[in-house]
Amino acid sequence: MPFIDIHHARRKAQRRLPRAVFDYLDGGAENEQGLTQNRHAFSRVRFRPHRLVDVSSPDTSASWFGESRPLPFIVAPTGLNGILWPDGDVALARAAASAGIPFCLSTAATTTIEEVARRVDGEFWFQLYVVTRELADDLASRAWKVGCRVLILTTDVPVNGKRLRDLRSGFKIPFRPGPRLAIDAIRHPRWLAGQLRHGFPELANMKSTGAASLETQAALMARKMDTSFDWDALARLRDSWRGRLIVKGIMRMDDAWRCVSLGVDGVILSNHGARQLDDADSPLNLLIDSPPEVGSDLFLDSGIRDASDAVKALSLGANGVMLGRAILYGLAATGEPGAREVIDMFKTDLIRTLTLIGCPSVKALSRDLVACS
Ligand SMILES: Cc1cc2nc3c(=O)[nH]c(=O)nc-3n(C[C@H](O)[C@H](O)[C@H](O)COP(=O)(O)O)c2cc1C
Repeated sequence: MPFIDIHHARRKAQRRLPRAVFDYLDGGAENEQGLTQNRHAFSRVRFRPHRLVDVSSPDTSASWFGESRPLPFIVAPTGLNGILWPDGDVALARAAASAGIPFCLSTAATTTIEEVARRVDGEFWFQLYVVTRELADDLASRAWKVGCRVLILTTDVPVNGKRLRDLRSGFKIPFRPGPRLAIDAIRHPRWLAGQLRHGFPELANMKSTGAASLETQAALMARKMDTSFDWDALARLRDSWRGRLIVKGIMRMDDAWRCVSLGVDGVILSNHGARQLDDADSPLNLLIDSPPEVGSDLFLDSGIRDASDAVKALSLGANGVMLGRAILYGLAATGEPGAREVIDMFKTDLIRTLTLIGCPSVKALSRDLVACS
């Protein structure tokens, strides 16, 4: 039976995955209050629908970088997708391509940049973690070489968040199950069979690059980044990257403006899905607090679980939203078909929500349609 909502996909994912792997996907930082807060922010926003509007053919197209897009969704960069489903990066990228939405490959992907470019015929973006400057330059130029024209710099992982579920389970990459994890894996034979057939995933982009020493690979695994990366370094990255540059993890409007003043093309308001700093505010609250006048394209993620959440973020000023766990639940449940189902569900529900709020198009969404408490 197709997913009826995201909870359905999540439950299926939970049944299929060993607990330690599900916890890696589902969990947040520290006491996980941030996960609740991210959801709570969306419930602060209620619709005030217009009536007697012609909504006979709702238009789902969005716009960023001055171009029209079929849908306002982007598949967020997520590491270690291969542990959720064999070949998970390619499965996600194909699902995204079939819906005409961009897929963003993570630095911590389990498939190389080159392989995704070769095997998937869709728009693909690359997300950069700066472990060392040399490695970052190398990854960016590899992405450029295979046709990637949008680079996302993630700024909210100077160090890894304290994820208690992972600390308890011992989850890490390379995935080398100890006795507890091994029993957990044996109890989930469908997952285990897939992993054995495919081989346990590794950080593919690290293994395949000349610039990555064993220490840098270990640093990425532990998310030990270059903590000296600052505004000057961003300015240099802006100068050296010829394509579109987006900065992810921004949580203050003054930082957003500063990004724009350096020539950045887009900003992603995000608290990394509450996986980094448990007490970080929810990015939606930034949009609730004040209309964004950023001067660049604006994206948002963290807590989006259905199309209604997306419509709220778009009404408050986002040009597009990123799907993180929502699409991963689909992937972990049934692979590429599951990821497609999640995107289809978002699309169908987007059309329904537009119709119900009396708004004929995504581009016509505005603050006028919501009330915030
Ligand atoms: C399992 C998992 C892995 C992630 N890995 C990365 C990553 O490698 N790079 C990155 O910039 N963000 C990463 N993120 C954060 C997502 O890009 C996105 O910001 C977040 O999932 C949005 O929140 P949501 O899951 O509540 O929708 C990851 C998120 C999850 C759930």
